[in-house]
Amino acid sequence: MKIIVTKNYDEMSKKAAELMAEIIKNKPDCVLGLATGDTPIGMYNELVAKYEAGEIDFAAVRSINLDEYYPISPDNDQSYRYFMNKHLFDRVNIDKANTRVPDGTAENVREFCSAYEAHLDALGGTDVQVLGIGRNGHIGFNEPDAELERFTHLVELTPDTIEANSRFFASEAEVPKHALTMGIHSVFKARKILLLASGKNKAAAINALVKSNITTSCPATLLCLHPDVTVICDEDAYSLV
Ligand code: PGA
Repeated sequence: MKIIVTKNYDEMSKKAAELMAEIIKNKPDCVLGLATGDTPIGMYNELVAKYEAGEIDFAAVRSINLDEYYPISPDNDQSYRYFMNKHLFDRVNIDKANTRVPDGTAENVREFCSAYEAHLDALGGTDVQVLGIGRNGHIGFNEPDAELERFTHLVELTPDTIEANSRFFASEAEVPKHALTMGIHSVFKARKILLLASGKNKAAAINALVKSNITTSCPATLLCLHPDVTVICDEDAYSLV
């Protein structure tokens, strides 16, 4: 695992965007595994700036997102589809037909999940999977548990995650109680994993990711089994290591 510690959030975002831009330049039809949340917003802004400067071109890029609330409609401004359109897809020349976010309106969840996993396989896995990390060490919505699922599945969100995400909603009661998420094996289909973290509230999770034994009670610790993981975190997130 390669760890890059930056001074602050802006520097983390710039470094992450540089790494993503290299991947896009080297393989114009690359498959980007994308993530939502506060953490990657700065990276998306930097990627948009690079696109506007003519440095990168998204015309042939394909993307597939990690997770989505369930149930939620794509035009709900808290949905991850809405987030991706707002922060990246509507601002660059990516063909939206080449983007996938789990469908928060899927009626048959089992069928949807196996079709999503099949699509990931049809893409040949991702060239890079961007991840944030939960305060509890979750990746995607793979929450701490005795067992972790391999593939895309429906998950019940933990009270900690509902509380952490309630800042985006009018009230905690409005946070969906479930989500669709790639599983651990789905994430591991990435040739490269890029995990971003910023702020003191991520310090315990980053400390566990770097130092703790591998445990499903901190899903991020499994990442040390993947051959190509880069962690870019700021000094605050690294402060307990
Ligand atoms: P955040 O979420 O970027 O909003 O902190 C990360 C996560 O929960 O995976």
